[in-house]
Order: sequence, then C-alpha cells, then structure tokens
Amino acid sequence: MRTFLLVVVSAFLTLAQAPLALAAEPDAFAAAKRLGRGINLGNALEAPSEGEWGVTLKPEYFAAIKDAGFDSIRLPVRWSAHAQKDAPYTLDPKFCERVDWALDQATQQGLVVILNMHHYDEIYQDLSHAPRFAAMWKQIAARYRDRPDTVYFEFLNEPHTKLTDEAWSKLFAEVLREVRRTNPTRPVVVGPSQWNSIHNLSKFTLPEDDQHLIATFHYYLPFQFTHQGASWAQGSDAWKGRKWPQSPEEQAALAKDFATAAQWSKEHHRPLLLGEFGAYSAADMDSRVRWTNAVAREAEKHGFPWAYWEFCSGFGAFDPQSNQWRAPLLKALIP
Ligand code: BGC
Repeated sequence: MRTFLLVVVSAFLTLAQAPLALAAEPDAFAAAKRLGRGINLGNALEAPSEGEWGVTLKPEYFAAIKDAGFDSIRLPVRWSAHAQKDAPYTLDPKFCERVDWALDQATQQGLVVILNMHHYDEIYQDLSHAPRFAAMWKQIAARYRDRPDTVYFEFLNEPHTKLTDEAWSKLFAEVLREVRRTNPTRPVVVGPSQWNSIHNLSKFTLPEDDQHLIATFHYYLPFQFTHQGASWAQGSDAWKGRKWPQSPEEQAALAKDFATAAQWSKEHHRPLLLGEFGAYSAADMDSRVRWTNAVAREAEKHGFPWAYWEFCSGFGAFDPQSNQWRAPLLKALIP
C-alpha cells in the first residue's frame, strides 16, 4: 500500500511539474532544437551575383541535403547588392523571387531554413548604412511574414569593425522591434561582434523581453589550421601543411571553448547555435575529418544545433562535379 501511495504521489508530482517545466522553457529552445544538424548553402546567393563564386543553386542540392540526413539549411544572402542605394532602398523583385524559390525548395524538402543577410560589407565599415539595413529587413520581414515557422531570420552575418558589440546590440534591438510588427514570434538568430566570435558572447546584449531569439557563434579555431591557403585570410599560405592530429591539448582547447559557450547559454537562458564551422580544402582530408567530427560532437554534447560551412564550394562536403558527397566529411558530420 505504501509503495502504491508513493507511486501515485510521485506520478502526481511529476504531472503537476510538467506544465511548469514546459512553461519555464522559452520556445526558442524548441526552435533551436529543430535546427539539429545543418549545412550552409554558401557561395551562391551571397556572391556579388549568383554563380559568380561558382555555385548556382539547384533543386537537387536541397534533395541531396535532405537525403543525407540534415535537418536544416542556412541560406546566406547578399541583400545589399540587390537593393536601391537610396531611400526607400527597394529590394530587386527578381532577386527576391529567387530567394522565394530557395525557401520553397527547403520547405518542400522538410528542411528548416535560416534566411540571413550576408556580406553587407559597407555597414561593417560605416554605420550610416543603418537605415538602409533596417529598411531591407522591414521589406524581407513583410515579404515572408506568412511563411511557415520553419523559416528563421538571421539579421547579419559576422558583425565586426564599426559594429562593435555595443553598436550591434543597439542596432539589432531597433531592427528587431520593426521586424516583430510583422513576425511577432518567428525565431531570429543573432550573434556577437568579432565575426560572431565565441569569445564575444558575454559582450553583447539581447532584448530581455524577446523569447524567440537563438544566439549564435562561429568556430574556426585553430584559425591557422582551418584557413590555411584561404585567399581571403592574409598570410594563410604560410600555414599550409598544418595538421590537426586531435592531440589532448587540441581537444582540451575545443572542450574549454564550448564549455564557456554552454555556461553563457545557461546563465542567459538563451539557446545557442553553432552557425558556421569548417576547415578549408587546402588542409589535408584526414585532419579536416578529425576536426569536423570533433567540433560537431562537442556541439552535440552541449545540445547546440550546428550548421557546417559549407555545402559545395571551398569547404564543401559535397562535390558538385561528381554530384556526390565527400564521404569522409559527410560521415564526420553525420556518423
Ligand atoms: C564567410 C565566407 C568564408 C567563411 C569562412 C563566412 O562567414 O562569409 O566568405 O568563406 O566564413 O571564412
């Protein structure tokens, strides 16, 4: 009898606590979880014009991503190259239709999609671009207000230089207020300055009252390994040949960085997304595979969804010539 009573009482307590636990967890955590394992469709729509960097999106790409077992796509877009230079900064309707198509493809495949703004190079150097930035987001938000809740927004990739954590936190809050008029609960992804550095998480601030935000960071450390031979990283030719043997010290450094991020997430009650990580193709394949596997697993250990950088270009997990996945890289991502 006592045992029976104990069971009944403990079952009652569990049930009574369940709604509380659910209510206490902001739904951004559920939204973050849905991102699961993702991949960036890089070098396509964020090139100065699509195709200029060698990638033109095809329906098969979305299907291949879904079939391989990914849950989500991050879609980098260079909106700033497709909007008027002066007020009212109207977005080019033809270009918008292309983005519509890409969102349709992702949604039809059952993939969650993060629509971002990438390479707005001018605003990093000159904050007088803020009104144009806000006006573009106002248009994007209105255009996609009726999209399913599997379409997320990310306002700006890798803020840096003039967009310090202070300036960026302020601008982000202003633009968010505007976007919330048309998209009151859509998940919005946002990361700190210094190119979304993991070490800047503690330096930026998010609007307290918005519970639909997913914080993000990018991870390319050790940079001299991941960016060896990358033309846009100064001096990177000298780093060629650097390996990543996954020494205890390397593994410990990775674990420490991610533990710091997890601590930030816990203290701030915000979910975290690892929005980019990858090692460039100039590094040896074995090291890339070890590093990619180690980073993805470390993220998963802390419950961070992730998006690999990127699909089929210089970091590519997919070979667009043979239309095949690079099997070791794919296995490192999805074991
Ligand atoms: C940039 C890419 C670059 C990658 C790795 C991204 O955020 O937009 O151009 O290839 O980071 O450096």
